[in-house]
Amino acid sequence: MRNVTKETITQAFLDYSGPETTPRLRFILEKLVQHLHDFTRETNLTHDEWRKGLELLQKTGEITDLERNEYVLLSDVLGLSSLVDMVNSPDSGTPSSVLGPFHIRGAPDLAVGGDLKKDNEGATVIVQGSVQTPDGKPVKGAEIEIWQTADNGLYSNIDENQSDFNLRGHMMVGEDGLYRFTTIRPAPYTVPDDGPVGELLHATGRQPWRPSHLHFIVTAPGFRTLVTEVFPSDDPYIDQDAVFGVREQLIMQYVEQTDLANLPDGLEVGKEVTLPFYTVDFDFILVPA
Ligand code: BEZ
Ligand code: FE
Repeated sequence: MRNVTKETITQAFLDYSGPETTPRLRFILEKLVQHLHDFTRETNLTHDEWRKGLELLQKTGEITDLERNEYVLLSDVLGLSSLVDMVNSPDSGTPSSVLGPFHIRGAPDLAVGGDLKKDNEGATVIVQGSVQTPDGKPVKGAEIEIWQTADNGLYSNIDENQSDFNLRGHMMVGEDGLYRFTTIRPAPYTVPDDGPVGELLHATGRQPWRPSHLHFIVTAPGFRTLVTEVFPSDDPYIDQDAVFGVREQLIMQYVEQTDLANLPDGLEVGKEVTLPFYTVDFDFILVPA
């Protein structure tokens, strides 16, 4: 095209791609460039603003290494990670939510009714429920991976004062689909805000906190793997999660228990249980693969 104008540049871009472009790549690039060009026309983007955007991407690259991926964090705080997750999720079943960077493989086995609390500080919490099909039948052969922060808001793999797999476990659920474990209440924490993503959060008056949550990966033969998180209704950050992970169906209650007689039978409880302790009931609904 010899006369590229504000109006024709998008079509020119599309016309320049050759026959080796796969239909999906062509479609994705077409939409991406259409939206980028529309964005530029609609905002009348100045040279300075465009340079600032490129600088953000450059600084994001500079701070990224094997331990810290600022691009993923950028995607998280823009809501893009959650949106990709939502457009790829089924309409039924327990909603998925972000995996985050703190999952590690190889968590030790945790029996149904087992104890994750061990000698961690914090009130005892008993988490229990079932893994079930959309019509309420127990899912057979389900496995649950659990990870969470200690009460200082840190995960074991970034806190040298915790053992490697502290507050992490892998549970084989029985034929009845029921799961249960003892733990402590995780704490809210901030996403890293000392880099370019933090600058963006601060420049837009946003806070870097995530509400406290329990992470789960639930798998079972013949069912879609569920990667999700569960949040307490009373967390101060529940309505402003920096990475947009909260969904209505992922909100649970910590129910205060003031009588030791309410401790379920057959449960490992780590050190002595002090009152009050808390119970959380949460069911996972898996959809067929
Ligand atoms: C997390 O929940 O572990 C997490 C998710 C996204 C960004 C940072 C942390
Ligand atoms: Fe987390």
